[in-house]
Amino acid sequence: MSNNQRRDFIKKVGLTSAAIAIGTSGANAASRKTFTYMKRNNKLSKDGQVNIALIGAGGMGSADTDTCLRHEGVKLVGVCDLYLGRLKIAKEKRGDVFTTTDYKEILKRKDVDAVIIGTSDHWHKQISIDALNAGKHVYCEKPMVHSVKEGHEVINVWRKSGKVMLVGAQGTSSVGNEKAKELLAQGAIGDLNFAEGFWARHSPTGAWQYPIPKDASIESVDWKRYIGNTTKRDFDAMRFFRWRNYRDYGTGMSGDLFVHLFSSLHYITNSKGPNQIGASGGLRYWNDGREVPDVMIGMFQYPKVKEHPGFNLSLRCNFVDGTSGTTYLRLVGSEGSMDVQWDKVIVKRNNAVPGDAFAQAKAKESGQVVSDRKKIQPPKEMIYKVENGYKGAHYDHLGYWLDAIRTGGTVDQDPVFGFRAAAPALLCNDSYYQSKFIDWDPVNMKLV
Ligand SMILES: NC(=O)c1ccc[n+]([C@@H]2O[C@H](COP(=O)([O-])OP(=O)(O)OC[C@H]3O[C@@H](n4cnc5c(N)ncnc54)[C@H](O)[C@@H]3O)[C@@H](O)[C@H]2O)c1
Repeated sequence: MSNNQRRDFIKKVGLTSAAIAIGTSGANAASRKTFTYMKRNNKLSKDGQVNIALIGAGGMGSADTDTCLRHEGVKLVGVCDLYLGRLKIAKEKRGDVFTTTDYKEILKRKDVDAVIIGTSDHWHKQISIDALNAGKHVYCEKPMVHSVKEGHEVINVWRKSGKVMLVGAQGTSSVGNEKAKELLAQGAIGDLNFAEGFWARHSPTGAWQYPIPKDASIESVDWKRYIGNTTKRDFDAMRFFRWRNYRDYGTGMSGDLFVHLFSSLHYITNSKGPNQIGASGGLRYWNDGREVPDVMIGMFQYPKVKEHPGFNLSLRCNFVDGTSGTTYLRLVGSEGSMDVQWDKVIVKRNNAVPGDAFAQAKAKESGQVVSDRKKIQPPKEMIYKVENGYKGAHYDHLGYWLDAIRTGGTVDQDPVFGFRAAAPALLCNDSYYQSKFIDWDPVNMKLV
């Protein structure tokens, strides 16, 4: 980043970490740690009420709505879901809101400015398109689309609409991601050459075995509408409530989880994406009729471009992981590494420096054997932590969306960004099922 770009970026994100190094620990240089506290200091517009409606009132859609309502000047006017149990909960929890099983009823309403789409993945494209065409702003959960062939349709409609559309991989709006972007641009880890990310889980819920409500039936679920854009089948409660396990509705481990890591990585590095994608994996444990693997490994080639050097990415996801609960994203460069979390960044410097050239020349003159090994400086760890009271990435993400709606502004994770993050994740599935590497053009967002 140029100084001007950096100034604009820092102003926009309101990140006033500004290296407030408040302490060091460790008796010697080898274990020296520096702590810096980051402070969120956004100046977002609060002018004007934004009326929202929720389409897909399950776990994440409801969480998005709760978080959106924590911002000032937001009112929920409608909720749509295909399971009557969730509409009943919405009525109880939200009071006097309009409820329906037909999202088009929501889109017809003049009092709805913006919609949150929290449905299973197979409905993201169509509902986003219909909402934009109906003149609504859109917050669509990740992954933006269910397959790569759907990406350009959303982008084209969004471009014509003039509306704000934000994709919901909220990590990119976190203080941690913003700090990592700034640090990388400042050369904190030298030249990037490798990145890796990992999701480890080991529990039935973590592995998508969600509880099925007792009243689940063709009477309580609008099954016909649910499968309206995919393979016709008889009602199956597993396919409805545990949709992530089935390819007609979900996008597997990579669509659910890798997409978060792609979003953060692309945001931090300004990358448009990899040009080669390969995945491997297997179904090792959760043999419950699912169609997708429970262990997956992805390998990605990022070409050298003006935004970043060429580098490799390795992603892993394991739902049978005895260590359980670990998630990380690490960027590795020629001078160190950076572990990026939403509320923390840990930079480890491990600067390889050439030996003293003068001393080496003198030693050679006197006939001594000179080692060309480089001296490795002791690691120096810098920990950037968010201050107490941080409201979190999710709050910030929805805050940026509301701000763009109110000011006619833009958002980072627009449909172009959203598609560039979703595509390599979705192509992992293609690579896995077709047993081959896939070539991708990240600039034009097309298969090669
Ligand atoms: N950003 C994140 O951290 C995060 C976390 C979890 C889930 N997600 C995403 O959120 C979305 C929802 O996931 P979830 O865990 O909340 O699933 P969920 O099963 O809890 O909720 C999905 C809801 O969508 C409803 N639905 C499906 N099709 C519909 C349609 N055509 N019209 C109206 N409602 C419809 C279902 O009835 C269900 O209640 C997914 O795309 C998922 O990838 C994002």
